[in-house]
Amino acid sequence: IPVEPFDLVIFGGTGDLARRKILPGLYRRFQAGQMTDDSRIIGAARGELSDEAFRNLVAEAIAEFLPKTQQDPAAIADFLKRLQYVAVDAQGENGWPQLKALVRDDVVQAFYFSVAPALFGDLASRLTAHGIAGPQARVVVEKPFGRDLATAKALNATLAQHFAESQIYRIDHYLGKETVQNLMAVRFANILFEPLWKSEYVDHVQITVAETVSVEGRGAYYDTSGAMRDMVQNHLMQLLCLIAMEPPYHFDPNAVRDEKLKVIRALDPVRPEDIVRGQYVGLKGQASYLEDAENKNSKTESYIALKLHISNWRWKGTPFYLRTGKRLRARASEIAITFREPPHSIFDDAEGWRENVLVIRLQPDEGMNLKVMIKEPGPGGMRLTQVPLDMSFADALGEAAQDVPDAYERLIMDVIRGNQTLFMRGDEVEAAWAWADPIIEGWERRGERPQPYDPGSSGPEDALMLMHRDGRRWREIR
Ligand code: BG6
Repeated sequence: IPVEPFDLVIFGGTGDLARRKILPGLYRRFQAGQMTDDSRIIGAARGELSDEAFRNLVAEAIAEFLPKTQQDPAAIADFLKRLQYVAVDAQGENGWPQLKALVRDDVVQAFYFSVAPALFGDLASRLTAHGIAGPQARVVVEKPFGRDLATAKALNATLAQHFAESQIYRIDHYLGKETVQNLMAVRFANILFEPLWKSEYVDHVQITVAETVSVEGRGAYYDTSGAMRDMVQNHLMQLLCLIAMEPPYHFDPNAVRDEKLKVIRALDPVRPEDIVRGQYVGLKGQASYLEDAENKNSKTESYIALKLHISNWRWKGTPFYLRTGKRLRARASEIAITFREPPHSIFDDAEGWRENVLVIRLQPDEGMNLKVMIKEPGPGGMRLTQVPLDMSFADALGEAAQDVPDAYERLIMDVIRGNQTLFMRGDEVEAAWAWADPIIEGWERRGERPQPYDPGSSGPEDALMLMHRDGRRWREIR
């Protein structure tokens, strides 16, 4: 179904994110018939560029970043006709009247700030001063949304001078992932899991986002950030919220975000001994973190594991273990919920017993796996064994699972539809920083260095200890 006609202005329209994700994503939605004929995409950046040159740049981006099977020359040519370009100076007056002349006020207006956060204020004030953004206009902003509570508050305050909260779309691309939204469907569209979804029945939860990539090529940004700011404060926090939140009364933007916010507010401070930070070393000719980051004294973590407690009625007593890192053994993101023992065993085979585990695989090979106990086949008496109820979305859903929109595609269309459910509200981002700040300040104050780990491993040794200490173990990364 096509969305309403729109004018989408992408500031930073020739930048890396626009080329990699936003523009190829828009082409995909165009190809899927979601863009009306009169919708337009306007690239804006500082450099002078003709419409023609911008269209060429977008054609190249599509060729580079989309698989061949998704490239249809006729559709691409048609899509490119919807593109225009204006040279605009965020910090000066150049280009604003031209932009004003282009952006219509009788269609949905969306302004994507794919630029450094330092420019958000300049863009917002010029959009309103020049009368370009109407009262219903939407602005889209990217992470990093601040680097601590103070900077996040400042960004929120700057945006709030020009736009209402209902106009601001803060992207966390994890929320645009099909399987991440599936977490909500699994929890709230089944009666099966929810009654057990509490500390009485859940022993612990593991959230893993393992990556094989290094920070090569983006070390300058990454080194000022680290895994905590780059991944935990936002992406893993969102996963945690979706797993731990109370059922919202409706699948409605504020109802969902209210519930997520309550989870973040209920997080206990994390004790230093419940945090393990790591940094990958060089191996077999491959660069170390210090080389990739071009900072030989860096104390920034490329891996982090931590144990969290949520102090509320539902989760008191159930630890959540989170870990994420670069250059690990495999690219694998999953959430594993381990249930407690039955209250009483009627079988003598205590050794054969294993906990029930529900694993939700987010990427790659999205699916679910529920480990259940059965009787071991054969005449050997009542011996127990564990088997998986394993389901891969690709197998279960066939073609429908093949062609799901990428996170960015979905989120941009949600902006046009005016649906904020999958975007972070200002108070949510601030609460996440309020939780993260003292943790980061703690290790900075103590001058802690991350522990070395081998690339291709599952992280530093001490991360294993974090679990062993509690008589538990991480699931294997593979
Ligand atoms: C980004 C981080 O937000 O998410 C990157 O800045 C990380 O460091 C990326 O690699 C992971 O996203 P995905 O979609 O590949 O899991």
